[in-house]
Amino acid sequence: MTSTQAYGEPWYWDNRYSNEPGPFDWYQKYLTLAPIINLYVPSDHPVLVVGCGNSAFSEGMVLDGGYTDVVNVDISSVVIEAMKSKFRDCPQLKYMKMDVRDMNAFESGSFSAVIDKGTLDSLLCGNNSRQNATKMLEEIWRVLKDKGVYVLVTYGAPLYRLRLLQESCSWTIKLHVIEKLASEEKSDYPVWELMKPVPLNDDGSSVEEALGPNPDVHYIYICTKEISANSNKNA
Ligand SMILES: C[S@@+](CC[C@H](N)C(=O)[O-])C[C@H]1O[C@@H](n2cnc3c(N)ncnc32)[C@H](O)[C@@H]1O
Repeated sequence: MTSTQAYGEPWYWDNRYSNEPGPFDWYQKYLTLAPIINLYVPSDHPVLVVGCGNSAFSEGMVLDGGYTDVVNVDISSVVIEAMKSKFRDCPQLKYMKMDVRDMNAFESGSFSAVIDKGTLDSLLCGNNSRQNATKMLEEIWRVLKDKGVYVLVTYGAPLYRLRLLQESCSWTIKLHVIEKLASEEKSDYPVWELMKPVPLNDDGSSVEEALGPNPDVHYIYICTKEISANSNKNA
């Protein structure tokens, strides 16, 4: 098994977090994404971060963003124990070992927002990827309140992510993009302004028209749970 294939496996992450205590943030840090998070996620509502790892993102949400209730889950007991101990004096941050495909510890409708930076991507690397990703998305849908938002930060362009999202649950989807470069190297003229949604049609072809082929960006999908549009499915 290659290491990317193992991204869906708990042993891989336990091993990695035992050797690399971090902190480490995949793709982007809180400060570069803060304007988008603040726009879509109210700071006084309960937020769930799935596959938190040892990232400083949630800490940033609390210390810089004023978020008051950030629950973090990860499948790796190694990282959850380390994060619990690190943040034992920070009541706004909670850490729980949990598989995102089965979050029955949470009642339906518990959260106003779910944040995922790199976790759906990891499940998509492993075996049974499509099945695992669908279970994950259905669980995220379930734990969100009506009108709650799933914020998915990913390297996956609409060509690879849109259909999966559309087929899992009935989301209303907006798309933002942010350049991959580290914040200090960001160019003065980004490919696209962070705060401006990219036009998104049903098959995502509008995105290539707006940004050109293979833009050097991370994609931020803002998926809103719309029960009314989908009253029979997963409600
Ligand atoms: C690419 S890392 C991203 C970590 C963090 N979100 C960040 O942005 O730095 C993916 C994380 O997902 C976790 N993970 C993988 N499969 C999982 C599952 N089924 N349930 C919960 N967490 C999972 C891994 O342990 C790892 O911490």
